[in-house]
Parts: sequence; structure tokens; C-alpha cells
Amino acid sequence: MSSLSERTFCLYTYGCQMNEHDSERIAGMLESLGAIQVESVEDAEIAVFVTCCIREAADVRLMGQVASIKNIPLPSGSDLKKRMICIGGCIGQRDGQKLIDALPHVDVVFGTQNIEHLPLLLEEAIQEGDHRVETLESAATFSTDLPSKRVHPWAAWLPITVGCNNFCTYCIVPYVRGRERSRTLEDVVAEARSLVADGVREITLLGQNVNSYGRDLYGEPRFADVLRGVSATGVERIRFATSHPKDLTDEVIALFGELPNLMPALHLPVQSGSDQILKAMNRRYTADHYRGLVDKVRAVCPDISLSTDIIVGFPGETEEDFQATYDLVKSIGYSQVFTFIYSRREGTPAAKMEDTTPREVIQARFESLVDLVQDSAHEQNQRFAGRTLDVLIEGTSKRDGSMCTGHSPHNVTVHAKLPEGMAIERLQGTIVPVRIDEAKTWYLSGEIIRG
Ligand code: SAH
Ligand code: SF4
Ligand code: F3S
Repeated sequence: MSSLSERTFCLYTYGCQMNEHDSERIAGMLESLGAIQVESVEDAEIAVFVTCCIREAADVRLMGQVASIKNIPLPSGSDLKKRMICIGGCIGQRDGQKLIDALPHVDVVFGTQNIEHLPLLLEEAIQEGDHRVETLESAATFSTDLPSKRVHPWAAWLPITVGCNNFCTYCIVPYVRGRERSRTLEDVVAEARSLVADGVREITLLGQNVNSYGRDLYGEPRFADVLRGVSATGVERIRFATSHPKDLTDEVIALFGELPNLMPALHLPVQSGSDQILKAMNRRYTADHYRGLVDKVRAVCPDISLSTDIIVGFPGETEEDFQATYDLVKSIGYSQVFTFIYSRREGTPAAKMEDTTPREVIQARFESLVDLVQDSAHEQNQRFAGRTLDVLIEGTSKRDGSMCTGHSPHNVTVHAKLPEGMAIERLQGTIVPVRIDEAKTWYLSGEIIRG
């Protein structure tokens, strides 16, 4: 029997969907060894942090959080000498032993390439009463071969690639996730099939750049084949993240008009509207190329919702550059824009670029963009008022227990009154028609139409 049997653990997950998925694998693995997941750290003998270092704020927060649980007593009845603290994910990968030097009460450090070793490292650290640090340069296996414990039984992440080859000059991901590797098409489709058999209704295909899927295996990108293969499993909803504009092909775009289960929502990070900045970022497309992609996507799927990521204050960004970004955001009509202030990441090429723009100027640019984004999201949502949308119900609303909440095909949050006498458990994970009465900036609300 594993020495982890009946031990309690809690998970803290930060960062992107890759981390969320890795956390599902970690929970699945630990539970398969008999450990029990609990919600709060007070009840946990083991705390696992799955970390992100995409921006500095994430780093700083982690240090504070790990330090803050130091003095919380172990749950009563535990035979451990102390709570086991494990740090994995991208900070684990980047810092390795340095984390133990900075935070001596940390017991295990693991990285992004060896999550399957966590149980063993943890058992050794418990038995020997000392630290374990292991990070690997590249993975021996795909973490997708591990058991998984899905947060929602009806929705699944399905990684099709790991790592990234793009080396955008601001970005740490290629250094902490390694080179891009694709799973075989057969593997991906087989997993999709088994997810569907297991009751999954929505699959989100994951990769840092899903559009370059297959280049390492087949010599050419074959993301369109993935979409067709997964669509043929009959899963009700397919989404994917993330797309790189330089690799989004006409073949993939056309599928938005062909595959009924490919949802009408596309996240296409543009980062900047200035060609000069895009070049300095090593994005390898121009703002015009990006606009052309949007036109093509809208030609095949006029009702599609678009979202994007923007970095404000990249080194050397002038007022004109920012204006180009602002104008682009305004003209595209996004439903959602994730806006970030540039954060210098040690070891990336941009960290060496001269950065003289005052903080206040960047902050003001950021705020004006955030205002624009809100207006744009509000305007985009108005088109849904009066329409009936299929909503995948996830649970009751956090604010009001008499309301249920879910997502539309366009990935907009929808709230609706829970029908009289209906238990939420009966609706969770089902797709129901909702007539939209009200369209706000970040959500829609309406009434479930009973058939
Ligand atoms: N692979 C994905 C995104 C990964 S990171 C893609 O290329 O789209 C998510 C977002 O974080 C990026 O799109 C970018 O907008 C932002 N980001 C990455 N590095 C950053 C940095 N150093 N400072 C600020 N934002 C950053
Ligand atoms: Fe980072 Fe660029 Fe790779 Fe995205 S495509 S993960 S932004 S290097
Ligand atoms: Fe963060 Fe790592 Fe994802 S740095 S954004 S968790 S790949």
C-alpha cells in the first residue's frame, strides 16, 4: 500500500489551462494512490502548489502564499511532523533548488516535465524527512497518460501539444515548458472518444499554439485533422486554446463554417496593433495580416465571438504604437480582451531591451484600453438580447442560489432562474435553451425555455 493512502491533500492552481489540466492529473494520481482531496489547507496534510511565472505578480504572490501557510497547524490526528509543501508548475521548473533556499519549509519541488514523479518524491520526502527537488529538461512521457480527476464531469481539457517553439521575446513559456511536442492524431482522437463515452459534453483542445499541432510529428501542421477527428466523435462542444495568428490556416478557418460542434468562439491573441512592436515581440505577423484573418473568420461564421490578449507597455512602445493597438481593438469588436501590462521576465530577449516609458504613462494607456474593452464587450453582448441560446449549465450562481449559471456556445456566461422545484443536480452538465432578456457587459441573463 502506498504511504500516501488516506493522506489528505489540497491543490492551489495558478496560471493557464495547462496548469489546470496538470492539476487534474495530479489530483487523479494522488487519489489513485488512496489520498483524499480536501478544499482547505487546514484540513490538508499535503499542500501542492501548481505555479505560474508568466508575469512578476504571479511570482510574488506565490512566495507570500507559501509563507502564509507555514504556521497553520496540521489537521488533528495526522502522524506527520509537519505539513508537506510541494511546489510544481512553471516556477518549480524555473527555480528548482533555489526555491528550497528561499523557502526552507518547502519539501518537494517538481517541474512541468515530471508531474508523474510527484507521488514518489513526496513519499521519499515523508519517509526521509528531507527535501526532494527534481526538474527535468524534457518529459519522458506525456502527462496525458496519467489518471485524471476532472473538476466537472461534463467538461474536459485535452492537451494536443505541450511546450512552445515560438519564443515571443517577452515570454517565459518556452523556457519553462520546453519545446513543442504533439501527441499523435490517433491518441488525441482516442482520448476524445473515451471522454465522450464517459459523459463529457465539452472538450477544450489545449496547446500554446494549437495551430502548429503536428509539425514535429508529421512535418506539417495538422490541426484541421484534429478538429475533424474530434468532431466526428460526436462530442457536443469543441473549443480550443490558444491560436497563434501566424499559423492559423484557411483550412482551419473553414471548419468554423463546417463542423456543427465547433463552437463559434475564437481566442486569437494579437498582443499589439503596431507592426513595429509586433516585430520586436517576434510575433511574425502584421496588424493587417491579423485583420485579414478576422475578416476570413467572420466570412465563414458571421456570428463568431472573438477574444484576444494585449500587452501594454512593451519596451519602446510609443504613444503612436499604443494608439495603433487601441484602434485595432476598437475596430475588431472583441467580446473579451485580456489586457496585461508588460512584465519583464529574466532570461527572455525583451528583458534586455531598453524600457524608458514612465510607469504612469503605461498605467494610463492600460486604463484607457480597459475602458474600451468594457464598451466593446457590452456592445458585443447586445446582439444576444431576445435570442434563445443553448447553455451548458454548470451550477448555481455564486451570488444567488435561486439562479443557475452556465456558458453559451459563444462562451458568454449566462444566468437563468432555476425552474420551480428543479434540483440543480438535474440540470448540471446538461444543455438547455435559454431566452436572453438582458445583456450586460460580462454576462447575459434570461429564462430557461421548457420543452
Ligand atoms: N501561448 C499563448 C499564451 C500564453 S501566455 C499565446 O501565445 O497566445 C498568455 C498571455 O500572457 C499572452 O498571450 C500574453 O498576452 C501575456 N504575456 C505573456 N508574457 C507576458 C509578459 N512578460 N508580460 C505581460 N504579459 C505577458
Ligand atoms: Fe509565449 Fe509566444 Fe509561445 Fe504564446 S506563442 S506561449 S506568447 S512564446
Ligand atoms: Fe503560466 Fe506556465 Fe501557463 S508560466 S501561463 S502556467 S505555461
